[in-house]
Amino acid sequence: MPDTVMSQADRLRVIPLGGGFGARIEGLDRSVPADEATRAALMRAFLDHQLLVVPGAPMTPAQMRDFSAIFGEVVPQVLRYKRVGDMPEVSRMESTLKLDGTTDKTAIRAEDWHTDDSYMAIPARGTVLHAHEIPSRGGVTWFCDMYGVYAALPDAIKRRIDGRMAVHGYDTPRARNRPSPRTAQEIAETPDVLHPLVRTHPQTGRKALYVNANRLDRIEGMERAESDSLLDELYAFAKQPRFHHGHRWTVGDAVVWDNRCLMHRVDVDYPPGEPRIMLRTLLRGEKPA
Ligand SMILES: [Fe+2]
Repeated sequence: MPDTVMSQADRLRVIPLGGGFGARIEGLDRSVPADEATRAALMRAFLDHQLLVVPGAPMTPAQMRDFSAIFGEVVPQVLRYKRVGDMPEVSRMESTLKLDGTTDKTAIRAEDWHTDDSYMAIPARGTVLHAHEIPSRGGVTWFCDMYGVYAALPDAIKRRIDGRMAVHGYDTPRARNRPSPRTAQEIAETPDVLHPLVRTHPQTGRKALYVNANRLDRIEGMERAESDSLLDELYAFAKQPRFHHGHRWTVGDAVVWDNRCLMHRVDVDYPPGEPRIMLRTLLRGEKPA
């Protein structure tokens, strides 16, 4: 009875998370290659909801790379030491809190609101994070809807930022914590770059505020003091919980998000000594405009 066999795409369910953005995907078997209709439905969901939570069994690095490729081209990672074996596209991110209270610097920096890779001329379109080991409590990853933030900004602030460019770098004194040290080759690959403060999403046409507490150093053409106070004002506005959704991790979850219209951060509040290990991929983006 071939006409009763459900296709992959028929089984797929896109369930909005309810907070204005984000959706949970059910009915997807990530262990088999997705057919074209399923890939198109997932891409549509990614653009419509900005954040996708996709539960399932833990994936191998190769499965993680193939799943990520549904949403775009998976790019090699800058920090060599995080690469998994001989697979340059998949990073192993360990954010375990050590018993002495220290952890990987990337994990500590991730406590502040940011969008991935904005220090690059072509920042990542999206990020996929996949939980392999999760502490018994804490470690929620938070997302901030930057379409919503921009739309809600007072007109007086919109007038001050529309058309402005901002300088992003690998590090800025504005960030609370210093990033992982780079090798000479990695430094050469990461000079400062300029991005618009307000960007238009190339696939949806919607406008989003594009800022990053860890990488955005200053607004071009403004005195440092004015730039700092305007950035502080923008960050304070984006900190309002009405723009946020928190994801509480289950082992096997893959979370896919759009860096062009979301910021994210993590609560580093989990018990020391309990492993927190994720696989991560980044999707090739386009020049912010
Ligand atoms: Fe991040």
